[in-house]
Amino acid sequence: MASLFARKPLEKLIAESHEIGEHSLKRSLGPVNLVALGIGAIIGAGLFVRTAAAIADRAGPSVVLAFMVAGIGCAFAGLCYAEFASMIPVAGSAYTYSYATMGELVAWIIGWDLILEYAVGAATVAIAWSEYFNRVLDWFGLRIPYQWSHSPFEIENATGLHGWINIPAVFILLLLTALLIRGTKESALVNGLIVVLKVTIVLMVIAIGWGFINPANHTPFIPAPTTYVTPQGIHHAYGGVLGILGAAGVVFFAYIGFDAVSTAAQEARNPKRDMPIGILGSLVICTVLYVLFSYVLSGLATVEDFRTHGREASVAFAISNYMPGYEWLSKSVTVAILAGFSSVILVMLLGQSRVFFSMSCDGLVPKTFSDVHRRFRTPYKSNMLFFVFTALFAAFVPEDVVGEMTSIGTLFAFILVCAGVWIMRVRQPHAERGFRVPALPVVAILGIITCGAMVYGLGWTNWARLIVWLLIGLIFYFGYGKSHSRISAPPPEMPEGISLAE
Ligand code: ALA
Repeated sequence: MASLFARKPLEKLIAESHEIGEHSLKRSLGPVNLVALGIGAIIGAGLFVRTAAAIADRAGPSVVLAFMVAGIGCAFAGLCYAEFASMIPVAGSAYTYSYATMGELVAWIIGWDLILEYAVGAATVAIAWSEYFNRVLDWFGLRIPYQWSHSPFEIENATGLHGWINIPAVFILLLLTALLIRGTKESALVNGLIVVLKVTIVLMVIAIGWGFINPANHTPFIPAPTTYVTPQGIHHAYGGVLGILGAAGVVFFAYIGFDAVSTAAQEARNPKRDMPIGILGSLVICTVLYVLFSYVLSGLATVEDFRTHGREASVAFAISNYMPGYEWLSKSVTVAILAGFSSVILVMLLGQSRVFFSMSCDGLVPKTFSDVHRRFRTPYKSNMLFFVFTALFAAFVPEDVVGEMTSIGTLFAFILVCAGVWIMRVRQPHAERGFRVPALPVVAILGIITCGAMVYGLGWTNWARLIVWLLIGLIFYFGYGKSHSRISAPPPEMPEGISLAE
C-alpha cells in the first residue's frame, strides 16, 4: 500500500508521455490549433448565461470589473499551467501535475475536485443549452413546458409554476455522450468553424450593441453594498467590493476551459513552445472579448430585467428587447450559442473521462473507468457512468447552483496548481522546462491570493458545498483508492477515441 504522500516520479510521467504519444495520439496540433482549441472550450455558458446571473445577483454593471479580476486570476494560474504542461506533456492535467509534486492524497483530492470542473461544468452548460433550445422552439410556435425544462428548485416568476425535470439538458448530454462513445474524431476543422462562429457573434454584439448602451444602466457603475435574496431564498452580497469578488467567482466559469488545452499536450507538435502559446493566447483573447461584451450587455438592459424575465437566454433577450431592428442578430446569436455550447460540453465530458482514465490506470478509481470499448476504443463505461451523473445534476439542480459549484471546484484546482508549480521548482530546479513562469514565487502567490479571493467571494453556501464534496471524496479514497493504488506499476496506454487533433 502506497504512502499518502507517495509521488509519481517525473521521469515515469515523461516516459508515459512518450509511450502514449507514439502509440496512440497523433502529435498534430500547432499553435493556431491550440489557441482555437482553447477558445472553443472557453466561450460558452459563462459568457452567454452566467454574466446575466452575476449582474442580477452580485454586481450590476461592475460585472465588467469582475471579468477583469477573474481574468487576472486565470492569467496567474494560466502561467503555472503553461509551465507544467510544457514540462509534463501528458493527459490528466492538474491531477497528474499534483501526483508528481504533492503526492497521492493531494492528487486524489484534485482528481475528485475536477469532477466539479468537468462533469458538473458539463451539466451547467447543458442547462444553459436547454434555455437557448427553448428559444429556438419558440420561433416555430413550440415550447417545452416550464415544468419539463427546469429543476424542481426553480419557479417561474410570472406564473408561479415549479419545474420538475430538465429534459432538454438531459437530451443534449445523452447525444454528446453517444458521440463520445462512438469515438468520432472531433476534427480541428469543425472546432475551427465553431470558434469562428462564436467569436464573430461576440464581436457583432459588441460592435452593434455599443450604439444601444443606455448610460443610465451603467450608473452607478459600482452599486452600493447591500444583500440580494434570490427567489430561491439564497442571500448574496450585492454591490461594493464583495459584490465584485462574488461576481468574479461566478463569471470565472466563463474562463474555464483554457486548462483543457493542457489536456491536449500529448497531441501538440511542439508542446514545450506551443502549450504556453495555446493556454495564454486563448486566455488573453477571451479576456478582451469578455470585458467588452459584459460592458455592452450590462448597458443594454437593467439589473431588474436580468433578475426577472431576462434571466434565461439573457443575451438573446437583451437584443430582442433593447436593440430594435436586430431580431436577426438575436436569432443568429441563439444558433451560434447552441453550437458553441455543444462543443464546450463535449470538451468537458472528454476532459472528465481522460482524468478518470488516468486515475483508473493509477488504481485510484475502479478499472471500469479505463475499460476501453473493443471496436470504438473509447472508455465507454466511464462515459456512460458520467452521463448518469451529469444528467442527474442537469435534470434536478438549478443552473446557479451547479455553475457556482463548478467555479469553486475549479478555483480550488487552480490554487493547487499554483502551489504545485512552486513546489516543483524547489524540488526539481534543474528539470527541463519549455516554459518558465516568470518571477516565481510571486506569480504563484498572486494566483493563490486572487483565486482565494474569488473563493471567498462565492460565500459560505459554496464553501460548504465544496467541503462536503471533498469529504465524500476522502471517504472513497480511504475506502478504495488508497488500498488499490498502483503507483509502482507499468505505464498505461490511452484509448484512441475522440482525438482533439485530426
Ligand atoms: N468556459 C466555459 C463556458 O463558459 C465552461 O461555458
